[in-house]
Amino acid sequence: MIIARTYQELATARATLGPTGLIATMGALHPGHLALVEAAKQSGLTPVASIFVNPTQFGPKEDFSRYPRDEAGDIAKLEQAGCALLWLPGMEEMYPNGHATTVHVTGPTQHWEGTQRPGHFNGVATVVAKLFGQMRPEAAFFGEKDWQQVQVVRRMVADLHLPVRIVPVPTMREADGLALSSRNRYLTPDERKTAPKLQAALAHAVQYLLAGKEPAATLHNARHELAAAGMVPDYVALVHAETLEPLTTLAQPARLLAAVRFGHVRLLDNLPVI
Ligand code: PAF
Repeated sequence: MIIARTYQELATARATLGPTGLIATMGALHPGHLALVEAAKQSGLTPVASIFVNPTQFGPKEDFSRYPRDEAGDIAKLEQAGCALLWLPGMEEMYPNGHATTVHVTGPTQHWEGTQRPGHFNGVATVVAKLFGQMRPEAAFFGEKDWQQVQVVRRMVADLHLPVRIVPVPTMREADGLALSSRNRYLTPDERKTAPKLQAALAHAVQYLLAGKEPAATLHNARHELAAAGMVPDYVALVHAETLEPLTTLAQPARLLAAVRFGHVRLLDNLPVI
């Protein structure tokens, strides 16, 4: 695997590769990230990855400085997974002195993570646009665990006519249903045992909705279920799967989203409804 740390090294390496599939990450890689590498391979593209803990997508009270970092471990995992190139830019490569451009997506950023984490999606859209410009992949593979992020990136790509195909990849889960996330390592052993109740509450809600129960009552039940498990819901929502607008009746395509605070960790999950 080629490791590029400067833009010049990246440009030289890129010229030696055919069409690529990008896996953009902030490191602390887990099998969910490696599934994205596999998806790129399966689609006939050369997998390339980036690791950059992007400060602009963290709020002032968020976990930027304590976000898990494991460069050596990540390199070994990507190498093993068959990644051809790793882009490991420093701050200067991503945000050069005097940088003055932010990508601001409206539409799908208006609710949920967009209101819980003001400015978060500006940071995500800006850094992802930079990565697309630097790495020029044919396609980019994103995990569906961050469903809203995938829709925001799709909107940005469509609106800016960026020549990249966005490929969502289903969430990888532990055997007990917990969605894989780099932040799961911060759960205490007891919290880890309880954490799958987030996915379970969403799965129950899907069942109730499909059985004809009112969305408002279903969401109320789900919040109750989460609170009973000791979780503090930031939101539990039935939304249009692409626009992320809240739905008051079941309409296609629908997605259930939830974010909860649990101990010191914020857990996100989502499931398709119809
Ligand atoms: O999903 C992530 O890890 C990040 O938001 C991304 C897409 C790498 C941008 O920093």
